[in-house]
Amino acid sequence: MTAPRGHAPVAPRSEPVRAGAAAAEVLSELPDPLVILDRGDRIVFANAAAEQFLGASAAWLRLKPLDQIAGLDGRLGVAVRHARATRRAVKEFAIELRLPRAGTARVDLQATPPDAQGSVLVLLHPGALAERQVAAPRASAVVLGNLGAVLAHEVNNPLSGIRGAAQLIEQGAPDESTAALAVLIREEVDRIAGLIERFVRFSELTSRRHGAVNIHEILDHVRRVAEAGFARGRRLSVRYDPSLPPVWGARDELVQVFLNLVKNAAEASGECGDIVIATRFEGGVRTAVPGAGAWQPVPIEVCVTDDGPGISPDVADTLFDPFVSTKPGSMGLGLPLVAKLVTAHGGTIEAGAEGGRTVFRVRLPMADTAAEGPGTP
Ligand SMILES: Nc1ncnc2c1ncn2[C@@H]1O[C@H](COP(=O)(O)OP(=O)(O)O)[C@@H](O)[C@H]1O
Ligand SMILES: [Mg+2]
Repeated sequence: MTAPRGHAPVAPRSEPVRAGAAAAEVLSELPDPLVILDRGDRIVFANAAAEQFLGASAAWLRLKPLDQIAGLDGRLGVAVRHARATRRAVKEFAIELRLPRAGTARVDLQATPPDAQGSVLVLLHPGALAERQVAAPRASAVVLGNLGAVLAHEVNNPLSGIRGAAQLIEQGAPDESTAALAVLIREEVDRIAGLIERFVRFSELTSRRHGAVNIHEILDHVRRVAEAGFARGRRLSVRYDPSLPPVWGARDELVQVFLNLVKNAAEASGECGDIVIATRFEGGVRTAVPGAGAWQPVPIEVCVTDDGPGISPDVADTLFDPFVSTKPGSMGLGLPLVAKLVTAHGGTIEAGAEGGRTVFRVRLPMADTAAEGPGTP
Protein backbone atom coordinates (compact mmCIF):
# COMPACT_ATOMS: atom_id res chain seq x y z
CA MET A 1 0.00 0.00 0.00
CA THR A 2 1.48 3.36 -0.91
CA ALA A 3 0.67 6.68 0.60
CA PRO A 4 1.25 10.21 -0.64
CA ARG A 5 3.58 12.78 0.91
CA GLY A 6 5.25 10.37 3.26
CA HIS A 7 2.10 9.62 5.26
CA ALA A 8 1.50 6.01 6.14
CA PRO A 9 -2.15 5.02 6.30
CA VAL A 10 -2.94 2.75 9.20
CA ALA A 11 -2.94 -0.86 8.13
CA PRO A 12 -3.97 -3.55 10.56
CA ARG A 13 -1.72 -6.56 10.94
CA SER A 14 -4.27 -9.16 11.80
CA GLU A 15 -7.17 -8.06 9.65
CA PRO A 16 -6.10 -6.49 6.36
CA VAL A 17 -8.30 -3.84 4.80
CA ARG A 18 -10.23 -5.51 2.05
CA ALA A 19 -9.81 -2.63 -0.36
CA GLY A 20 -7.30 -3.90 -2.91
CA ALA A 21 -3.95 -2.16 -3.21
CA ALA A 22 -5.15 0.01 -6.10
CA ALA A 23 -8.31 1.01 -4.27
CA ALA A 24 -6.36 1.78 -1.10
CA GLU A 25 -4.10 4.04 -3.12
CA VAL A 26 -7.11 5.91 -4.46
CA LEU A 27 -8.54 6.31 -0.95
CA SER A 28 -5.16 7.57 0.28
CA GLU A 29 -5.18 10.30 -2.34
CA LEU A 30 -8.67 11.56 -1.51
CA PRO A 31 -8.53 15.18 -0.41
CA ASP A 32 -11.17 14.65 2.32
CA PRO A 33 -10.41 12.78 5.54
CA LEU A 34 -11.47 9.15 5.31
CA VAL A 35 -11.22 6.34 7.84
CA ILE A 36 -12.32 2.72 7.80
CA LEU A 37 -13.53 1.27 11.09
CA ASP A 38 -13.51 -2.42 11.90
CA ARG A 39 -16.52 -4.15 13.41
CA GLY A 40 -15.41 -2.88 16.83
CA ASP A 41 -15.38 0.71 15.51
CA ARG A 42 -11.58 0.91 15.70
CA ILE A 43 -9.62 2.68 12.98
CA VAL A 44 -8.03 0.21 10.58
CA PHE A 45 -7.38 2.64 7.75
CA ALA A 46 -6.88 6.39 7.69
CA ASN A 47 -5.89 8.32 4.61
CA ALA A 48 -3.37 11.14 4.61
CA ALA A 49 -6.07 13.79 4.81
CA ALA A 50 -7.50 12.08 7.90
CA GLU A 51 -4.07 12.05 9.55
CA GLN A 52 -3.67 15.70 8.84
CA PHE A 53 -7.21 16.56 9.91
CA LEU A 54 -7.08 14.58 13.13
CA GLY A 55 -3.61 15.93 13.82
CA ALA A 56 -2.35 12.46 14.63
CA SER A 57 0.14 10.07 13.12
CA ALA A 58 -0.76 6.74 11.57
CA ALA A 59 0.86 4.87 14.45
CA TRP A 60 -1.13 6.82 17.00
CA LEU A 61 -4.43 6.33 15.20
CA ARG A 62 -4.06 2.58 14.76
CA LEU A 63 -6.88 0.61 16.33
CA LYS A 64 -8.14 3.64 18.26
CA PRO A 65 -11.91 4.06 18.40
CA LEU A 66 -12.69 7.06 16.20
CA ASP A 67 -15.53 8.32 18.36
CA GLN A 68 -13.31 8.25 21.44
CA ILE A 69 -10.57 10.35 19.91
CA ALA A 70 -12.72 12.81 17.96
CA GLY A 71 -16.33 12.57 19.11
CA LEU A 72 -17.54 15.53 21.10
CA ASP A 73 -21.30 15.23 21.36
CA GLY A 74 -21.69 11.52 20.65
CA ARG A 75 -23.27 12.06 17.24
CA LEU A 76 -20.30 10.57 15.42
CA GLY A 77 -20.71 7.27 17.25
CA VAL A 78 -24.47 7.40 16.86
CA ALA A 79 -24.11 7.91 13.10
CA VAL A 80 -21.82 4.90 12.71
CA ARG A 81 -24.03 2.71 14.89
CA HIS A 82 -27.00 3.83 12.85
CA ALA A 83 -25.30 2.84 9.59
CA ARG A 84 -24.56 -0.57 11.12
CA ALA A 85 -28.02 -1.12 12.55
CA THR A 86 -29.96 -0.08 9.44
CA ARG A 87 -27.34 -1.32 6.95
CA ARG A 88 -27.89 1.94 5.12
CA ALA A 89 -25.64 4.89 4.32
CA VAL A 90 -25.93 7.75 6.78
CA LYS A 91 -25.26 11.42 6.22
CA GLU A 92 -25.06 13.79 9.13
CA PHE A 93 -24.35 17.48 9.10
CA ALA A 94 -22.48 19.92 11.29
CA ILE A 95 -21.11 17.40 13.77
CA GLU A 96 -18.76 18.97 16.31
CA LEU A 97 -15.50 17.06 16.62
CA ARG A 98 -12.77 17.46 19.18
CA LEU A 99 -9.47 16.99 17.45
CA PRO A 100 -6.70 15.57 19.62
CA ARG A 101 -4.23 18.31 18.84
CA ALA A 102 -6.12 20.82 16.74
CA GLY A 103 -9.02 22.08 18.82
CA THR A 104 -12.57 21.54 17.63
CA ALA A 105 -14.01 21.43 14.14
CA ARG A 106 -17.37 21.09 12.53
CA VAL A 107 -17.76 18.43 9.85
CA ASP A 108 -20.36 16.82 7.65
CA LEU A 109 -20.10 13.04 7.77
CA GLN A 110 -20.98 10.14 5.52
CA ALA A 111 -20.86 6.54 6.73
CA THR A 112 -21.35 3.51 4.50
CA PRO A 113 -23.31 0.42 5.47
CA PRO A 114 -21.02 -2.28 6.90
CA ASP A 115 -19.40 -4.71 4.48
CA ALA A 116 -19.44 -8.49 5.01
CA GLN A 117 -16.71 -8.18 7.68
CA GLY A 118 -18.52 -5.39 9.47
CA SER A 119 -16.19 -2.59 8.32
CA VAL A 120 -17.68 0.87 7.89
CA LEU A 121 -16.11 3.61 5.81
CA VAL A 122 -16.44 7.11 7.25
CA LEU A 123 -15.85 10.17 5.10
CA LEU A 124 -15.57 13.58 6.76
CA HIS A 125 -16.14 16.91 5.05
CA PRO A 126 -14.55 19.61 7.18
CA GLY A 127 -17.19 22.18 6.26
CA ALA A 128 -15.93 24.99 8.44
CA LEU A 129 -12.39 24.59 7.18
CA ALA A 130 -13.13 24.20 3.49
CA GLU A 131 -13.94 26.94 1.01
CA ARG A 132 -17.58 26.10 1.62
CA GLN A 133 -18.39 28.35 4.53
CA VAL A 134 -21.18 27.01 6.67
CA ALA A 135 -23.26 28.95 9.09
CA ALA A 136 -25.88 27.40 11.32
CA PRO A 137 -28.23 28.90 13.89
CA ARG A 138 -27.14 29.29 17.50
CA ALA A 139 -29.07 29.25 20.71
CA SER A 140 -29.48 33.02 20.99
CA ALA A 141 -32.63 32.94 18.86
CA VAL A 142 -34.18 30.96 21.68
CA VAL A 143 -33.12 33.58 24.23
CA LEU A 144 -34.75 36.21 22.06
CA GLY A 145 -37.94 34.17 22.13
CA ASN A 146 -38.21 34.31 25.91
CA LEU A 147 -37.40 37.99 25.89
CA GLY A 148 -40.17 38.51 23.35
CA ALA A 149 -42.77 36.91 25.61
CA VAL A 150 -41.73 39.08 28.57
CA LEU A 151 -41.71 42.22 26.42
CA ALA A 152 -45.16 41.50 25.08
CA HIS A 153 -46.55 40.92 28.54
CA GLU A 154 -45.06 44.09 29.99
CA VAL A 155 -45.64 46.41 27.06
CA ASN A 156 -48.85 45.34 25.34
CA ASN A 157 -51.23 46.43 28.11
CA PRO A 158 -50.00 50.01 28.42
CA LEU A 159 -49.79 50.18 24.62
CA SER A 160 -53.45 49.35 24.18
CA GLY A 161 -54.23 52.05 26.78
CA ILE A 162 -52.20 54.60 24.86
CA ARG A 163 -53.87 53.57 21.62
CA GLY A 164 -57.38 53.94 23.09
CA ALA A 165 -56.54 57.35 24.50
CA ALA A 166 -55.14 58.50 21.15
CA GLN A 167 -58.32 57.36 19.43
CA LEU A 168 -60.44 59.38 21.89
CA ILE A 169 -58.31 62.49 21.30
CA GLU A 170 -58.57 61.92 17.53
CA GLN A 171 -62.38 61.75 17.67
CA GLY A 172 -62.83 64.83 19.85
CA ALA A 173 -59.92 66.88 18.51
CA PRO A 174 -60.58 70.66 18.54
CA ASP A 175 -58.48 71.22 15.42
CA GLU A 176 -56.78 69.38 12.56
CA SER A 177 -53.25 69.54 13.88
CA THR A 178 -54.29 67.91 17.17
CA ALA A 179 -56.09 65.17 15.20
CA ALA A 180 -52.99 64.65 13.05
CA LEU A 181 -50.83 64.27 16.14
CA ALA A 182 -53.30 61.75 17.62
CA VAL A 183 -53.16 59.78 14.37
CA LEU A 184 -49.38 59.84 14.53
CA ILE A 185 -49.48 58.43 18.08
CA ARG A 186 -51.92 55.70 17.00
CA GLU A 187 -49.86 54.71 13.98
CA GLU A 188 -46.64 54.55 15.94
CA VAL A 189 -48.30 52.47 18.64
CA ASP A 190 -49.48 50.07 15.92
CA ARG A 191 -45.98 49.88 14.52
CA ILE A 192 -44.50 49.08 17.92
CA ALA A 193 -47.23 46.49 18.56
CA GLY A 194 -46.35 44.85 15.22
CA LEU A 195 -42.71 44.77 16.18
CA ILE A 196 -43.49 43.14 19.53
CA GLU A 197 -45.71 40.62 17.81
CA ARG A 198 -42.69 39.56 15.77
CA PHE A 199 -40.70 39.06 18.96
CA VAL A 200 -43.51 37.04 20.50
CA ARG A 201 -43.59 34.73 17.52
CA PHE A 202 -40.15 33.53 18.52
CA SER A 203 -41.49 31.91 21.67
CA GLU A 204 -44.87 30.67 20.48
CA LEU A 205 -43.99 28.94 17.29
CA THR A 206 -43.63 25.42 18.52
CA SER A 207 -47.27 25.19 19.56
CA ARG A 208 -48.60 25.63 16.01
CA ARG A 209 -50.38 22.71 14.44
CA HIS A 210 -48.47 20.80 11.82
CA GLY A 211 -49.74 18.48 9.11
CA ALA A 212 -48.86 17.04 5.69
CA VAL A 213 -48.21 19.92 3.30
CA ASN A 214 -47.21 20.16 -0.34
CA ILE A 215 -43.92 22.04 -0.37
CA HIS A 216 -44.24 22.92 -4.07
CA GLU A 217 -47.60 24.61 -3.51
CA ILE A 218 -45.95 26.64 -0.73
CA LEU A 219 -42.98 27.56 -2.91
CA ASP A 220 -45.27 28.52 -5.82
CA HIS A 221 -47.13 30.84 -3.46
CA VAL A 222 -43.85 32.37 -2.28
CA ARG A 223 -42.80 32.84 -5.87
CA ARG A 224 -46.05 34.64 -6.75
CA VAL A 225 -45.79 36.97 -3.76
CA ALA A 226 -42.14 37.69 -4.56
CA GLU A 227 -42.77 38.34 -8.23
CA ALA A 228 -45.61 40.74 -7.42
CA GLY A 229 -43.44 42.70 -4.98
CA PHE A 230 -39.83 42.69 -3.94
CA ALA A 231 -38.53 40.44 -6.72
CA ARG A 232 -40.36 42.13 -9.56
CA GLY A 233 -38.26 42.00 -12.72
CA ARG A 234 -35.74 39.53 -11.25
CA ARG A 235 -35.10 36.11 -12.74
CA LEU A 236 -36.79 33.81 -10.26
CA SER A 237 -36.92 30.20 -11.40
CA VAL A 238 -37.83 26.92 -9.79
CA ARG A 239 -36.31 23.46 -10.15
CA TYR A 240 -38.62 20.98 -8.50
CA ASP A 241 -38.26 17.28 -7.94
CA PRO A 242 -41.80 16.28 -8.95
CA SER A 243 -41.69 13.03 -6.97
CA LEU A 244 -41.21 14.77 -3.62
CA PRO A 245 -43.52 13.44 -0.88
CA PRO A 246 -45.48 15.79 1.44
CA VAL A 247 -43.59 17.66 4.14
CA TRP A 248 -44.57 17.57 7.82
CA GLY A 249 -45.14 21.21 8.64
CA ALA A 250 -47.27 24.30 9.06
CA ARG A 251 -48.03 26.02 5.75
CA ASP A 252 -48.03 29.65 6.94
CA GLU A 253 -44.76 29.23 8.76
CA LEU A 254 -43.07 27.61 5.78
CA VAL A 255 -44.33 30.45 3.57
CA GLN A 256 -42.68 32.84 6.06
CA VAL A 257 -39.44 30.85 5.94
CA PHE A 258 -39.09 30.84 2.17
CA LEU A 259 -40.37 34.41 1.71
CA ASN A 260 -37.58 35.57 3.99
CA LEU A 261 -34.96 33.55 2.14
CA VAL A 262 -36.15 34.68 -1.30
CA LYS A 263 -36.34 38.30 -0.10
CA ASN A 264 -32.75 38.14 1.15
CA ALA A 265 -31.70 36.54 -2.14
CA ALA A 266 -33.44 39.33 -4.08
CA GLU A 267 -31.82 42.01 -1.93
CA ALA A 268 -28.39 40.40 -2.28
CA SER A 269 -28.48 39.80 -6.02
CA GLY A 270 -29.88 43.18 -7.05
CA GLU A 271 -31.89 44.30 -10.06
CA CYS A 272 -30.55 41.72 -12.54
CA GLY A 273 -30.33 39.00 -9.93
CA ASP A 274 -30.84 35.34 -10.68
CA ILE A 275 -32.66 33.43 -7.94
CA VAL A 276 -33.37 29.70 -8.03
CA ILE A 277 -35.60 27.70 -5.70
CA ALA A 278 -34.76 24.01 -6.01
CA THR A 279 -36.11 20.94 -4.26
CA ARG A 280 -34.84 17.41 -4.07
CA PHE A 281 -35.13 14.25 -2.02
CA GLU A 282 -32.04 13.10 -0.21
CA GLY A 283 -32.54 9.94 1.78
CA GLY A 284 -30.24 9.00 4.63
CA VAL A 285 -30.03 12.54 6.04
CA ARG A 286 -30.99 12.60 9.69
CA THR A 287 -30.87 15.16 12.39
CA ALA A 288 -30.82 14.85 16.16
CA VAL A 289 -34.05 15.76 17.92
CA PRO A 290 -32.92 18.15 20.66
CA GLY A 291 -33.18 16.64 24.13
CA ALA A 292 -34.82 13.44 22.90
CA GLY A 293 -31.71 11.40 22.10
CA ALA A 294 -33.52 10.44 18.91
CA TRP A 295 -32.92 10.98 15.25
CA GLN A 296 -35.40 12.09 12.66
CA PRO A 297 -34.96 11.80 8.91
CA VAL A 298 -35.04 15.16 7.10
CA PRO A 299 -34.98 14.03 3.47
CA ILE A 300 -36.78 17.00 1.88
CA GLU A 301 -34.27 19.57 0.76
CA VAL A 302 -35.14 23.07 -0.42
CA CYS A 303 -32.33 25.35 -1.61
CA VAL A 304 -32.69 29.04 -2.29
CA THR A 305 -29.67 30.23 -4.25
CA ASP A 306 -28.69 33.56 -5.74
CA ASP A 307 -25.86 34.99 -7.79
CA GLY A 308 -25.21 37.91 -5.47
CA PRO A 309 -21.83 38.74 -3.91
CA GLY A 310 -22.19 36.15 -1.14
CA ILE A 311 -22.38 36.39 2.62
CA SER A 312 -20.20 39.10 4.07
CA PRO A 313 -17.42 37.67 6.27
CA ASP A 314 -18.47 40.23 8.90
CA VAL A 315 -21.72 38.38 9.54
CA ALA A 316 -20.90 34.83 8.39
CA ASP A 317 -20.61 33.49 11.96
CA THR A 318 -23.61 35.31 13.39
CA LEU A 319 -25.98 35.17 10.45
CA PHE A 320 -28.80 33.56 12.39
CA ASP A 321 -28.46 35.75 15.46
CA PRO A 322 -30.98 38.53 16.05
CA PHE A 323 -30.10 42.11 15.07
CA VAL A 324 -27.33 41.05 12.69
CA SER A 325 -27.64 42.93 9.42
CA THR A 326 -25.46 44.55 6.79
CA LYS A 327 -28.39 46.51 5.36
CA PRO A 328 -28.89 50.10 6.44
CA GLY A 329 -32.11 50.47 8.41
CA SER A 330 -32.71 46.71 8.58
CA MET A 331 -33.54 44.94 11.83
CA GLY A 332 -31.73 41.68 11.10
CA LEU A 333 -34.64 39.61 12.37
CA GLY A 334 -35.38 37.68 9.18
CA LEU A 335 -32.90 34.83 9.55
CA PRO A 336 -33.39 34.30 13.31
CA LEU A 337 -37.08 33.94 12.63
CA VAL A 338 -36.36 31.54 9.76
CA ALA A 339 -34.03 29.50 11.98
CA LYS A 340 -36.58 29.37 14.77
CA LEU A 341 -39.33 28.21 12.41
CA VAL A 342 -37.19 25.58 10.70
CA THR A 343 -35.98 24.24 14.04
CA ALA A 344 -39.56 24.09 15.29
CA HIS A 345 -40.22 21.87 12.26
CA GLY A 346 -37.45 19.51 13.34
CA GLY A 347 -35.53 20.67 10.28
CA THR A 348 -32.10 22.16 9.67
CA ILE A 349 -30.83 25.22 7.87
CA GLU A 350 -27.37 26.10 6.71
CA ALA A 351 -25.92 28.88 4.63
CA GLY A 352 -22.88 28.89 2.45
CA ALA A 353 -21.40 29.33 -0.99
CA GLU A 354 -21.38 26.62 -3.61
CA GLY A 355 -20.29 26.91 -7.22
CA GLY A 356 -20.11 30.69 -7.03
CA ARG A 357 -23.65 31.06 -5.71
CA THR A 358 -25.00 31.86 -2.28
CA VAL A 359 -27.01 28.93 -0.94
CA PHE A 360 -29.50 28.68 1.92
CA ARG A 361 -30.32 24.98 2.36
CA VAL A 362 -33.33 23.90 4.39
CA ARG A 363 -33.99 20.25 5.24
CA LEU A 364 -37.41 19.21 6.43
CA PRO A 365 -39.04 16.01 7.66
CA MET A 366 -41.37 14.08 5.42
CA ALA A 367 -45.01 13.69 6.49
CA ASP A 368 -45.32 9.95 6.96
CA THR A 369 -42.16 9.43 9.03
CA ALA A 370 -42.54 12.61 11.12
CA ALA A 371 -46.19 11.92 11.92
CA GLU A 372 -45.18 8.80 13.83
CA GLY A 373 -42.62 10.80 15.77
CA PRO A 374 -38.89 10.77 15.34
CA GLY A 375 -37.28 7.38 14.97
CA THR A 376 -34.56 6.24 17.28
CA PRO A 377 -31.26 5.09 15.93
N1 LIG B 1 -28.70 35.64 0.08
C1 LIG B 1 -27.82 36.36 0.83
N2 LIG B 1 -26.64 36.78 0.29
C2 LIG B 1 -25.77 37.49 1.04
N3 LIG B 1 -25.96 37.85 2.33
C3 LIG B 1 -27.11 37.47 2.91
C4 LIG B 1 -28.10 36.70 2.20
N4 LIG B 1 -29.12 36.47 3.05
C5 LIG B 1 -28.80 37.07 4.21
N5 LIG B 1 -27.61 37.68 4.13
C6 LIG B 1 -26.92 38.45 5.18
O1 LIG B 1 -27.51 38.15 6.43
C7 LIG B 1 -27.92 39.35 7.08
C8 LIG B 1 -29.10 39.05 7.97
O2 LIG B 1 -30.24 38.71 7.20
P1 LIG B 1 -31.67 38.88 7.87
O3 LIG B 1 -31.67 38.22 9.19
O4 LIG B 1 -32.71 38.46 6.89
O5 LIG B 1 -31.78 40.44 8.15
P2 LIG B 1 -31.94 41.65 7.12
O6 LIG B 1 -32.39 41.10 5.81
O7 LIG B 1 -32.96 42.50 7.78
O8 LIG B 1 -30.59 42.30 7.06
C9 LIG B 1 -28.19 40.30 5.95
O9 LIG B 1 -28.11 41.66 6.36
C10 LIG B 1 -27.08 39.95 4.97
O10 LIG B 1 -25.87 40.55 5.32
MG1 LIG C 1 -33.91 39.69 5.58
